[in-house]
Amino acid sequence: MNTTWKDHIMPDVGTFNDKRVIVRVDWNMPITDGVISDTSRFDVTVPFLKELSFAGAKIIILTHFGEKGESLEIIAKHVTKNLPFISFYVSQDFDALERTSRSLERGHGMLLENVRLWNGETENASSLAKSFSLLGEVFINDAFSVAHRTHSSVVGIAYLMPSYFGPTFVRELEHLTKALTPIKPALLIVGGAKISTKLTLINQYLNQGVEVFVGGAMVHNLWKERGVEIGKSLYDPKYKLPESFINHPLLLTPKDVVLSNGETVPFNKIPTDGVIVDCGNDTVAMLEKIILESKTVIANGPLGLYEKGWLHGSEQILTKLANAPVTSYIGGGDTVSVAHSLHLLRNFTFVSLGGGAMLDFLASGTLPGIDAVTK
Ligand code: 3PG
Repeated sequence: MNTTWKDHIMPDVGTFNDKRVIVRVDWNMPITDGVISDTSRFDVTVPFLKELSFAGAKIIILTHFGEKGESLEIIAKHVTKNLPFISFYVSQDFDALERTSRSLERGHGMLLENVRLWNGETENASSLAKSFSLLGEVFINDAFSVAHRTHSSVVGIAYLMPSYFGPTFVRELEHLTKALTPIKPALLIVGGAKISTKLTLINQYLNQGVEVFVGGAMVHNLWKERGVEIGKSLYDPKYKLPESFINHPLLLTPKDVVLSNGETVPFNKIPTDGVIVDCGNDTVAMLEKIILESKTVIANGPLGLYEKGWLHGSEQILTKLANAPVTSYIGGGDTVSVAHSLHLLRNFTFVSLGGGAMLDFLASGTLPGIDAVTK
């Protein structure tokens, strides 16, 4: 029988009294000078973990962290300080871990070392998924932001045991399902580097009659193929855009751009040695007008060279969006961090904790980690 995600929402926590519950969270948080600089991904999971604990569940927590699979030590310190009923286990000896999970007292929990340090996690190795699954009786995925990864602790494990979506995951699905087919007129604002990775997403919206603004370095490929001079700006020379896409009437691009020397020029006056680093004020004004005429706006991805501090365009657009009377969905690490630094997060209808996961979900309506639970 085909089921949807709604059939797999976690039952009342009371059901988990005295049960070993494996919870997949995403505590992959940014660290600056040895300190977690944004704890949002931890904070959203706290009420649920406390509820599980009060309900008498025995909690086994899985998370990944960092690019190369660093130790979870810094994160674990924060977790055990704020949720003292959880202890951190660095051991990778599954027999010992299983014994520990079986001897957990009700209401207590164990946090395992970064799952990406275990052999086979990113290959979705069934042996690792099996070992994880033996630590509990039920699996709850509360990590929407990693559900686009076909990994053992996301996908493999869910096929092996009764599995549900936790509250953070459900919140993402509730909102992003609405954003999949937005109330029109609607606008999608995408930025970032590679247009090739976002083509399915953009087409998904163009096909519904939604206007799509392409910003960031992504637009350079499009301009190149339209014959617009982009100077020495970054683009992907190996990637060719489909003919039908290049001149799609609903595709919007910046009217003006900021160059690395700080100068702002119209998009068709970029000098041959110019390097585009941001969008200009005329572009912001154009987008503000469209935002005010829209019922729904979805934004993901920086509109300038974020790593080098070119945030002005993104800051302006997010401020206009935050103050507009529209339904707004934003996501992506850089976008959320700009909104966070401007204290705007509460002004949006929904702020997704997913970056790639949000984009992949909006492109196809599902993710490997969703399919695995609804299997
Ligand atoms: C994220 O930060 O987007 C998620 O934690 C997924 O991380 P990943 O891109 O390393 O899989």
